[in-house]
Amino acid sequence: MEAGRVLIGEEEIAARLREMGEQITRDYEGEALLVVGVLRGAFMVMADLARHIRLPVEFDFMAVSSYGSATKTSGVVRILKDLDEEIAGRHVLLVEDIVDSGLTIDYLLKTLRLRRPASIELATLLVKENMQRVPVEVRYAGFEIGPEFVVGYGLDFDQLYRNLPYIGVLEQHSL
Ligand code: IMP
Ligand code: MG
Repeated sequence: MEAGRVLIGEEEIAARLREMGEQITRDYEGEALLVVGVLRGAFMVMADLARHIRLPVEFDFMAVSSYGSATKTSGVVRILKDLDEEIAGRHVLLVEDIVDSGLTIDYLLKTLRLRRPASIELATLLVKENMQRVPVEVRYAGFEIGPEFVVGYGLDFDQLYRNLPYIGVLEQHSL
């Protein structure tokens, strides 16, 4: 399946996730970590990143949906599935596929902070250029990209293309 032009190739993604995992391993040395994937987009990043984290790690998932059109978020986030685990007193690493407006992650961070984790940080594969970004602190960012709509490696357009092993730019003619 082709989806426009390859923006970030498989090997580049693998190398960057390895670096991020090594950084996380160093930063949390001596601690245990709860890695929280934000479904559905983060499933691939989470699986590949986690393989480079050498710590006692547990996993949990949240599922959210942002109201909005297929390619634009409205900032209204609905929690479809909450965490199974309690996070009070634990070190939590949220894993996302992409931060665009930042509204989704801002909402999640605020919600989860109320539960008093020992710490909560964000790792995301992509940070998209966005003039309207709300300020969010991204502790681990894979790549900064331009404002174009991307698919692959967990990211979808209308639920398709998540299985592409690379990040591609969806071109108008392939929509
Ligand atoms: P936000 O604008 O930072 O709240 O991003 C919300 C969500 O929009 C992300 O978690 C993605 O699911 C989705 N999203 C934003 N930009 C893209 C894109 O380029 N491709 C696919 N999904 C995207
Ligand atoms: Mg998402």
